[in-house]
Amino acid sequence: MNIQEIRKDFPILHQEVFGHPLVYLDNAATTQKPQCVIDTIRHYYEKDNSNIHRGVHSLSERATKDYEATRETIRGFFNAKSTKEVIFTRGTTESINLVASSWGGANIGKDDEILITHMEHHSNIVPWQMLCERTGAKLKVIPMNEAGELDLVAYAELLNERTKLVGVVHMSNALGTINPIADMIQQAHQVGAKVLVDGAQAAAHIPTDIQALDIDFYATSAHKMYGPTGVGVLIAKEALLNAMPPYQGGGDMILMVTFEKTQYNALPHKFEAGTPNIAGVIGFGAALKYIQNIGFDAIMQREKELLNYATKKAQAFAGLKQIGIAKDKACVLSFVLDGVHPHDLGTILDHEGVAIRAGHHCAMPVMQFYKVPATARASFSIYNTEAEVDALFEALEKARNMFA
Ligand SMILES: Cc1ncc(COP(=O)(O)O)c(C=O)c1O
Repeated sequence: MNIQEIRKDFPILHQEVFGHPLVYLDNAATTQKPQCVIDTIRHYYEKDNSNIHRGVHSLSERATKDYEATRETIRGFFNAKSTKEVIFTRGTTESINLVASSWGGANIGKDDEILITHMEHHSNIVPWQMLCERTGAKLKVIPMNEAGELDLVAYAELLNERTKLVGVVHMSNALGTINPIADMIQQAHQVGAKVLVDGAQAAAHIPTDIQALDIDFYATSAHKMYGPTGVGVLIAKEALLNAMPPYQGGGDMILMVTFEKTQYNALPHKFEAGTPNIAGVIGFGAALKYIQNIGFDAIMQREKELLNYATKKAQAFAGLKQIGIAKDKACVLSFVLDGVHPHDLGTILDHEGVAIRAGHHCAMPVMQFYKVPATARASFSIYNTEAEVDALFEALEKARNMFA
């Protein structure tokens, strides 16, 4: 993989911040966008902008064709069984809320149990808490160890015939841990529970075969995969979707409306009420093709090299404590530095041109587990270089000296 060639695809990287070349290490929050994605969105607005599905004119036909073509691209990318199983949403958060509200509302009752992990993003906690409040179901948590790995013995013990859903993050945004979802899904299915996989972080780093893994519900966001913000996907088994009530009512999700009764549209449209983010969806398609052109073998190998390089530097850096050292992890270096609050660190690093994230990463229970208010997090992507990792540690050195 030629990193310098890849960097040329991302115009935003070529700028200075406070007189330093930008070092963008906040990829877990959102990735940057390659020129092909920007061009695709621009082309749509310049040539094809129009509403989809209902139009009889050429622009609407083109927009509809490109929108639906992305559905097929997504189906292929994640190996879903059919495009009927691919529902466009605003992102991971909305996908999970859709499942909690629609499937959860129809299938979860008092004393049922929903099992999630200690390392979930708030997006995969709060919708289930809200469902539990409405239904009287119980939220249970799979614990983790100091390294940031799930306790699979405890998981097996927590699973029982009352468990109706297991919600698990494929890759933790706060720790980088990659969870053993294949085994976890099998175990959940043995007690008849459905599984929702939060793929927000993993989707750009690890190939995910939804059929091979037998995932019931899969949620992810385009913006973490080099695509635009405000668009994502829910992929779910057709039989489950067919049995679920619509999430929102409105245009496009209907076949026939009278004041007495509405007949809902077929899948996937039943779950896509209102004018969607058409440009975003089409841009998402371009982003997935960009990933496919590079290929996951090259992506995984490169990102592993980078993480190893950064991890070695972190281990040698006095006063730095890594948060999350799972054996199986990707692309995230979360840490605290003795005597420097992560927020101060974030500001000092920004003045050196280095963009990291400091905070709870929308995973407050992870912070509670490690008894820290926040961590600093550098997260890497295919366009990052060893020189940028060096710049991160040089900036950390400055911060450490300032507070010494
Ligand atoms: C693991 C994980 N889940 C869910 C989300 C929420 O994604 P979005 O804000 O795109 O809906 C994120 C975003 O940071 C995440 O990292």
